Amino acid sequence: MTTDKRPTGLRKGLATYGDAGFSLFLRRAFIKAMGFTDDALDRPIIGLTDTMSDFNPCHGNVPDLIEAARRGIMLAGGLPMAFPTISIHESFSHPTSMFLRNLMALDAEEMIRAQPMDAVVLIGGCDKTLPALMMGAASANVPAIVLPTGPMLVGHHKGEILGACTDCRRLWAQHRAGKIDEAEIDTVSGRLAPTRGTCMVMGTASTVAAMAEAAGLALPGAGTAPAVHADRLRLAEASGATAVRLAREGTTLRDLLTPASLHNALVVLQAIGGSTNALIHYTAVAGRLGIRLDLDAFDAIGREVPVLVDLKPSGAGYMEHFHHAGGVPRLLKELAPFLDISARTVDGGTIADAIAAAEEVANQTVIRSARNPIAVGGGLAVLHGNLAPLGALIKRSAATPALLQHEGRAVVFDGLEDMAARLDDEALDVTPDDILVLRNAGPIGAPGMPEAGYIPIPKKLARAGVTDMVRISDARMSGTAFGAIVLHAAPEAAAGGPLALVRNGDRIRLDTEARRLDLLVTEEELAKRRAAWLPPAPPPGADRGYLRLYREQVTQADQGCDFAFCLPGAHA
Ligand code: FES
Repeated sequence: MTTDKRPTGLRKGLATYGDAGFSLFLRRAFIKAMGFTDDALDRPIIGLTDTMSDFNPCHGNVPDLIEAARRGIMLAGGLPMAFPTISIHESFSHPTSMFLRNLMALDAEEMIRAQPMDAVVLIGGCDKTLPALMMGAASANVPAIVLPTGPMLVGHHKGEILGACTDCRRLWAQHRAGKIDEAEIDTVSGRLAPTRGTCMVMGTASTVAAMAEAAGLALPGAGTAPAVHADRLRLAEASGATAVRLAREGTTLRDLLTPASLHNALVVLQAIGGSTNALIHYTAVAGRLGIRLDLDAFDAIGREVPVLVDLKPSGAGYMEHFHHAGGVPRLLKELAPFLDISARTVDGGTIADAIAAAEEVANQTVIRSARNPIAVGGGLAVLHGNLAPLGALIKRSAATPALLQHEGRAVVFDGLEDMAARLDDEALDVTPDDILVLRNAGPIGAPGMPEAGYIPIPKKLARAGVTDMVRISDARMSGTAFGAIVLHAAPEAAAGGPLALVRNGDRIRLDTEARRLDLLVTEEELAKRRAAWLPPAPPPGADRGYLRLYREQVTQADQGCDFAFCLPGAHA
């Protein structure tokens, strides 16, 4: 908690004119153009990140959330000030949203720091946006509360409940296999995302939001309440009021996101069978605070903590079902033996208080007990071995169990273009027992580490009924996807990692139980291949601008793919 006497409200961070009195006078003069009184301008100022964009339907409810948050701020005696930030939607970001996450984090950090706010409500939701806002707020070290936009309601098609985007992938795979025709897939495109809000499966957006609640950075219920429910508006109002209290106390993310609360968030990540992306994002957020997320400690959590939440892609339900079953507080109650329940929460209490207030919903089946889990041994496993010296990840809970232990012949794709050109070629030498390898799709290689790790099953195998194969890459995967898919192999191929050395026909062994991923080629042969390796040519435009900055500064997955110069004490 901050106890110093730095300027607050309108007096914070004055523009530099060489005369502080004049700077403040000028600021007041300009802002009075908006009709503010001196009384209003003397209140604690609470910033609201306006991440609304016509390109971002996941944030379509942001104007309503801002209005509700303004109400809460004013009821608590503060002055709300909304300001725009970059907005990133998954399917409207070329080449990939991850390429832009760090740009949004830079924008958020500097706008929070530059403008005079005593606290900020971080309103975001679509996958990269909340991580970017948290990274920025952590570095700006201004009191902050997380307000997710919330998940969409479910869709319906031919009597089946479905939603974005696990079912997008499942139904598209059926279309590729010739089981769904053009007319039906067109109809389905209007039913997968039926309301505003984030994807309503346990994808990245849902995972990041649920973890923020478990880490005590968002109010109880904020991780799960549907985007279009009145609950979400009430949470916005309460988040605004809470931000005024945080401003008065000086409580920042640094005070709340401690090793204990990060541990609690990671326990929840395992128990919800959450998105692999969330691990990268929380590594980056914690990294901004100087906390190193230990992958092996995370894996150890996974060996103890069962998957308890029955949501797609690991289970059957959707986020609104999780919310109505009691949401994160009810889950925390089941997980209490694994948690540090003394960890503080943004509402002024502790995780123990959240658990005590958890709702008991009779006969709900979404949040299981440890005696009746969806899966034992956690959702995510961390792999090491000669193919991933800095680690790789597999989402055990969404994989075909028989493929978790597998040895096969490598079928290698040198990059996204190569994969697009050859994957569906009828002449491709591939069998269901082979292991598909995609490289040069990591943070530097693609660039931006796209969600290409969900390598489609080659068409000729899909037609023959093959639904899963072992797939390995240095890319990421959508949190909504499923399969025996190894991701984030680090260091990536474009940085000279061992994935660059794999050749067609090599044998690869995946041993998830032993947490190993190995290329079964002798060290002598690998040394020869390493000596002959040349890095891929940089993409067009890599000599200037953001692409140049990105390629020079981005770190590997084990450091959250943050920019090296943004880490505390960086001398890059
Ligand atoms: Fe925005 Fe899925 S596309 S959360």
